[in-house]
Amino acid sequence: MTNSAFKVHLEELRTVIEAALVETLDRGGWPNSLKSAVEYSLMAGGKRLRPVLVLLANEMCGGRQADAIPAACAIEMVHTYSLIHDDLPSMDDDDFRRGRLTSHKVFGEALAILAGDCLLTLAFETIATQVTGTGEINGLQIAEQMRILASAAGGSGMVGGQVLDLEAERGALVNVENAEMHVQNTGKHGCESGATAVQKAVDSVDFPSVQGETSSSIPDFCPNDSNRTAETRVVELSQIHRMKTGALIAGALELGAATTSADPDIRNRLQHFGHCIGLAFQIADDLLDVTGDQTRLGKKPGRDADLGKLTYPGLLGIESSRAKAEQLVQEACDAVAVFGDRSRWLRELARFMVERDH
Ligand code: IPE
Ligand code: IPE
Ligand code: MG
Ligand code: MG
Ligand code: MG
Repeated sequence: MTNSAFKVHLEELRTVIEAALVETLDRGGWPNSLKSAVEYSLMAGGKRLRPVLVLLANEMCGGRQADAIPAACAIEMVHTYSLIHDDLPSMDDDDFRRGRLTSHKVFGEALAILAGDCLLTLAFETIATQVTGTGEINGLQIAEQMRILASAAGGSGMVGGQVLDLEAERGALVNVENAEMHVQNTGKHGCESGATAVQKAVDSVDFPSVQGETSSSIPDFCPNDSNRTAETRVVELSQIHRMKTGALIAGALELGAATTSADPDIRNRLQHFGHCIGLAFQIADDLLDVTGDQTRLGKKPGRDADLGKLTYPGLLGIESSRAKAEQLVQEACDAVAVFGDRSRWLRELARFMVERDH
């Protein structure tokens, strides 16, 4: 299959997604300002890779495309909300996104936050209110789609990863299992271990005393271990990337399969494929932040270094990061090679995701 045939298919899928997204915004009852802010970010021409993954997984599993459209729109809404919030001054403080000024630069912080909130809730509404009874989708499958999306987007997925990403700017030790961070310094975000932050908040407020409850009930935390090896830091970083970016990408594949009656082997293989390309995708994003061009990227490069982000090129250098991304793409392609021609588009997309220049 030629690369140009893949590009044609990708464009076809993007056209379907754009049209479906426009339709979901055609609703009354919203304040005009909110509608403008949501539309501004959602219709700004992102690559639409996550909804494309939903449609390709659905296609590979022999599903009907119409059954996958609501889930495809929903994941793009969650992704767009994550970008609006990611760009806020309290997070990555970015001025450009998708070739435009960021949402808060145009609409102000409050409306940008609320546009993100609106997109997140609209995503679940889009899945919940899809028309059933025409294809394979029933109520149970809708609940399953909502579970997949919530889990990919939430505390053990994208949102949790964003927290770790911010905390890692100042050298926090990633410890996901216990959800405790050992923090060296307090960064601009005020990211501290949960207990330290709670302790400070408690100290600063004049609470009426409650019998039997003292502030010493908040546990102490160990100081940051500055002797962590490079290997440990790569493991920590891969955990951040898998959560903040990989979870939604793997979730897109899971969602696509959930819109069909795919058997567990297919789902497992798609999940493995998703985890590999999810990490590879964020490595590619880190690389583009070093090597990319603002006009192509639609966002300003060099921000990771400005912010002191923990990144793959920062830890491993450019060549080793590229090699790692390529190795992950190979592993992803191997996971779905057993499906032969049926998985060809997914394999093409996996390569595109790391070879892209934007
Ligand atoms: C950017 O995602 C943010 C990351 C998770 C790395 P994309 O590169 O997919 O952004 P859009 O959707 O094309 O704008
Ligand atoms: C963003 O990662 C991940 C999200 C959950 C949005 P980055 O902060 O690296 O994404 P960009 O580079 O700003 O697009
Ligand atoms: Mg970020
Ligand atoms: Mg960012
Ligand atoms: Mg980035």
